[in-house]
Amino acid sequence: MNAATYQSFADTWENRASIRTRPRRMLENDDKLIYPLSRQPLVLGQAFLRECPQQRDFVLVQTLYKFINDVVIFETEIVDQTARSIAKNRFGVAFPPACRYDAMTVVVDEDYHALVAMDFMQQTIALTGIAPIQLPTQIELSRAVPAALALAPPELRAPMELICVAIAENTVTHDVAAFARDDTVKASIKGLMADHLLDEGRHSGFWTRLVQIYWQRASEAERHCLAQILPVFIRHYLTNDLQNAFDFQLIDHLPVSPAVRLALKDEVSGLAFPINRHHPLVGNIVRFLRSSSLLDSACVQQAMVDYLC
Ligand SMILES: [Fe+2]
Ligand SMILES: [Fe+2]
Repeated sequence: MNAATYQSFADTWENRASIRTRPRRMLENDDKLIYPLSRQPLVLGQAFLRECPQQRDFVLVQTLYKFINDVVIFETEIVDQTARSIAKNRFGVAFPPACRYDAMTVVVDEDYHALVAMDFMQQTIALTGIAPIQLPTQIELSRAVPAALALAPPELRAPMELICVAIAENTVTHDVAAFARDDTVKASIKGLMADHLLDEGRHSGFWTRLVQIYWQRASEAERHCLAQILPVFIRHYLTNDLQNAFDFQLIDHLPVSPAVRLALKDEVSGLAFPINRHHPLVGNIVRFLRSSSLLDSACVQQAMVDYLC
């Protein structure tokens, strides 16, 4: 893949983009879950099941709010920003017009995903009567991308940003896919995830191709420098700090005794995945490093050795 052989997906976008093809989804008032139990382990813990199982739906609704809030931050503050500057040809790596047009479709898709997420937030508040607790103003990437950029020399900040966003877009795709397959959750929520997935499949390929184009024309010295920063980015990206802080705050809102609160916090603290090759998202990241051709370079193999099986 190079800039000359890049083929636009504009036709596919016209025919398949969720903003072009999907009707508004309405949250249904049925007995299905609003959020998968497997994605909020707090409600599966022994202390929770023993002390406050009746709080399950409150916890799941709040966790859905956080998920929605994270999606809005990701789409509007991370992906939108990079895609928009590529589209407007003011990004530090130059791309041909076909890439820039496709980048604009990504901007439109992502802002639409944020809108749909906000719609679901409003619908859920209306249906459940549960107001969101204070939601985070940052996601892991709000810290991980600046941390990576701070380590890059000025001329490599744009390529570093491109690789960070490409990793994130490839990871989120597989994450949303797991959600869309879950039969325990409400059909509208599954449908929402499936709509999103439809677009993200296109995006992950887009970002992978842009990284391939960049990597092919990068010098060995540039590749080496970027490779050294990758593990730092991944450590920040996979940290459990924000989820843990949110879970603690959520526990503080439960009507339970201080002793139970402590037991619940103890339980969620023990759930974090170690940040190594066994972390569930590392497989997605490594798959991206392969498909984008980064892992063909010895410097990337060496920098990523802790994450490779
Ligand atoms: Fe998206
Ligand atoms: Fe995307």
